[in-house]
Amino acid sequence: MTKLKVALLANAKENAPKFDEASEDQWDDLDSIKTIMSIVEAIKSGGHDCEFLEGNLSLVENLPKFQPDICFNICEGHFGDGREAQIPALLEMMRIPYTGSKVMTLALSLDKPMTKRILFWHELPTPEFQVFERMNEPRNEDLRFPLFVKPSREGTGMGVSEKSIVNNEEELREQLEIIFKKYKQPALAERYIEGREVTVGLVGNLEGPAARRLPHDENLPRIQKGLHFFPPMEVDLEPFKDSDKVYSNRLKVDLADQLNYVCPAPLDDVMVEDLNWLAAAVFRVTGALDVSRVDFRLDASNNWKPYILETNPLPGLSPGISDIVIEAAAEGIDHHELVNMILNAALKRYGIEKPTRIMP
Ligand SMILES: Nc1ncnc2c1ncn2[C@@H]1O[C@H](COP(=O)(O)OP(=O)(O)O)[C@@H](O)[C@H]1O
Ligand SMILES: [Mg+2]
Repeated sequence: MTKLKVALLANAKENAPKFDEASEDQWDDLDSIKTIMSIVEAIKSGGHDCEFLEGNLSLVENLPKFQPDICFNICEGHFGDGREAQIPALLEMMRIPYTGSKVMTLALSLDKPMTKRILFWHELPTPEFQVFERMNEPRNEDLRFPLFVKPSREGTGMGVSEKSIVNNEEELREQLEIIFKKYKQPALAERYIEGREVTVGLVGNLEGPAARRLPHDENLPRIQKGLHFFPPMEVDLEPFKDSDKVYSNRLKVDLADQLNYVCPAPLDDVMVEDLNWLAAAVFRVTGALDVSRVDFRLDASNNWKPYILETNPLPGLSPGISDIVIEAAAEGIDHHELVNMILNAALKRYGIEKPTRIMP
C-alpha cells in the first residue's frame, strides 16, 4: 500500500472562537485535542503521513502548503445553519478529496426537521412533528402530548434535558422560549417515544441497487451490499430513571463515564436486521458516504416499533467514549482500525488506491 499524505481536519474545542454571548454548552460538539491526536495516530498506524489542521479559513493557506492526497474530515464547524458542510464546500472548491459525506448530506442532517421531511417522504418511521418558529404559533391538534421539544440544529444532547418532555401547553411554551432564547433557532416538537434507546453505526458505501426496498415495496429484496453494520448499542437509562429519562446533554457530557452502554444490545435477530436495514435506508435517502450513525427509540407502547430520531453522518470518534467506537469495539475492531475503515471506504470510493482491508 502506498503511503499517503492525509490531513486530519477537525475543530478543536480549545481553538473555538470566544465571544460574550456564548452559552456554556456552545462548543460541546467539538473535539478535544486528545481525540484529534488519537485519530492522527490511527491514520499513521495505517501506514500514512498525517497532520492535524484546524478546520477554519486558515485551510485556504495551509492545505496548498501541506498538499494532502486526501483529508479526513470531522469538522463540526462553528457558525451558521450549514456549519458542518462548510469545510467540505471549501474542499470541493479546492478539488481535494475527503472522507465522509458531502455538502448536501451534512447540511441536511444537521437540520433535524428537514431530514424528517425526507424520511416521511420515503415512508420511513420517524415521530410525527411540528416546527415552531414563534412563541404564539398554534399547535397542530393532531400532535398529542406528551411531546419532546429540542433545538432543530444541534447535537450532543444540546438543549435536551428532562424538561424536553412536555405534557401540556404551558410546558411546551416554556420549552419553546428556552430554545428560542438560548439557541436562536426553530424548535422541533415531536411525539415523545417512551421506550428503549438504541443507536446503529455503519461504515462503507452502498453498491448497486442500494437498499432498494422501502417500506411500501414489501416484495423487493433488502439490499445493503457494501455496508458494514456494527452491533447496535443500547444506552441503559434505567439507573437515571428518576432524573434523566432521555439521553440528555448532562448524560452525554457530564456523566458520560458513569453510563452503562450495552453493546451488542440485547435484541433479537429480526430486530437487528430491521434496525440495520432502516439505518441503510436512512444512509441512502440522505446520500451519506463512508460512515454514519443512526439514533433510534423503540416504542414501548407499540411492540417496540423502531422510530428514527436522527442521523449523524459525522459521528463522534473519541476513543472509549463515542457510541460508534464502543460499537466497533464490541466486534473486536479497535479505534485505529475503525478510523482506517472509514479512510479506506473513502479511498476506495475515489479510486485513490486499493485499501488493504476489504470492505464486506
Ligand atoms: N421524540 C423523542 N422521544 C423520546 N426521546 C427523544 C425524542 N427525541 C429525542 N429524544 C431523546 O433525546 C436524545 C437526543 O436527541 P437526538 O435527536 O438524538 O439529538 P442529539 O443530536 O442531541 O443526539 C435522544 O437520544 C433521546 O434520548
Ligand atoms: Mg442523537
